[in-house]
Amino acid sequence: MNTLVSNVKSAFINKFKTEPLLIFSPGRINIIGEHTDYNDGFVFPAAVNKGIFAAFQKSDSGTSTVYALDMDSSIEFSLENLKPSKQGHWENYVFGVIAEIQKKNKTVSNFNLVFKGDIPAGSGMSSSAALENSVVYGLNELFNLGLSKHDMIHISQKAEHNYVGVNCGIMDQYASMFGIKNNALLLDCRTVESKPYEIDFKDHQLVLINTNVKHSLSDSAYNDRRSVCEHISGLMGIKALRDANEADLEKIKDQVTSENYQKALFVIQENNRAIKASKAIEEGDLVTLGNLIYGSHDGLQHQYKVSCEELDFLVEQAKLNKHVLGARMMGGGFGGCTINLVAKHGIEDFTESASKAYEKKFNKACSVYFVELSNGTHVIKN
Ligand code: GLA
Repeated sequence: MNTLVSNVKSAFINKFKTEPLLIFSPGRINIIGEHTDYNDGFVFPAAVNKGIFAAFQKSDSGTSTVYALDMDSSIEFSLENLKPSKQGHWENYVFGVIAEIQKKNKTVSNFNLVFKGDIPAGSGMSSSAALENSVVYGLNELFNLGLSKHDMIHISQKAEHNYVGVNCGIMDQYASMFGIKNNALLLDCRTVESKPYEIDFKDHQLVLINTNVKHSLSDSAYNDRRSVCEHISGLMGIKALRDANEADLEKIKDQVTSENYQKALFVIQENNRAIKASKAIEEGDLVTLGNLIYGSHDGLQHQYKVSCEELDFLVEQAKLNKHVLGARMMGGGFGGCTINLVAKHGIEDFTESASKAYEKKFNKACSVYFVELSNGTHVIKN
C-alpha cells in the first residue's frame, strides 16, 4: 500500500478506533484548453497519480470531525446550519460539499474524515477539486446517497462557487472524477461528455515545472475573467463564447474595450486550439501539438492576461531549449506549473538548465514533477 494511504489509514484508526473506507481522488493536468470550460468550450485534461487520500467512517458521537493531516488541523462540527468559514480556510471545501448534498434533499449523517494529499497547493493541479470529489464520493459510498458521478461533480463545483468563492468551470472536477489511466479526455464542457485519447508520446513526454508561487489576486481575477466572457456573450446574444467565431466577435468590436475584445478573442482561439490539439494527437503530430501549446501560452500571457513573470520565464526557458516542443502555464494562472512537451533524452538537460536559470533569476527554486495519467476518484481496496 502506498505510504500516503497507510499514513491516512493509521491516523484514522488512531483517532477514531475503527477501520475506515479509503478513497483516492486525483488532481489533474491540462494539455490545452484553458479558461474555455466556463465558456461551454473544449478542454483536454487528464487525472494524475497525485491527489487526495481520504479515510471515512460514520460517527455516532453526535458531531462530525474532519482532520487535515497535512496541516495537523482538525475541526468538529454539527451538520445543521452549515455556513462558510473564513475565506481561504480548508474546511470550506468540506462544508461546501455537505451543504450542496443537503440542498439535493439527501441526508448525510455524522461522519469522521482524515485526509492528506500530495498535490502542492497552488500548483494549478486542482488539489481543491480532488478534495471536493473525495468528500462527495466518500459520503455517497458511506450513506448510499445514490448520486451519479455527474451529480457528484456538479456538487463539487457548486461547493467551490458557494463556499470557496471561485466561479470555476467543470474541468477540474470532471477530470478528477472521470480520469482514465494513460488517457487524456477531450471534454465538451457544454454536454459534459468526453472522448478519451490514449497518451503515448513515444520518445516525448509531458513534464511539469512548478514556479512555487501563487499570486494572491488569482481568485478575484478568475471571477473577473468569467464575468467579462459572460458580458461579451450577452452582447452577442449567444449562450456562451463557444458559440462564436472570430467574425462574430468582430461585429461587436466597437461595443467593448480593446482589452476585453482580446480576452474574448483568446477564448475563441483557445477553443479551436484544443480541438486542433486532439487531431494532432490522433495523427501523432507532436510538432503541431507543441506549437499549439506555445500558442496557448502566448494568448494566456498577452490576451487573457492570467500569466505572471515566473511562468513566462519558464516558458521562455523552454523555447531556448531544443528538446522542448511546447510549453505553457497550466490551470487558472498567476502561478503554479508550466506543462512542457519534451524529448525524453533531453529532459535532464532541460529541467536542469531551466531550474538553474529560475533560481538565479528569482532567488528561489522551482520543482520538477513527472506524473502518470491515472483513473478518476475511486475506493481503494484494502
Ligand atoms: C481553474 C478552474 C477551471 C478552469 C481553469 C482554467 O482550474 O477551476 O474550471 O477554468 O482554472 O482553465
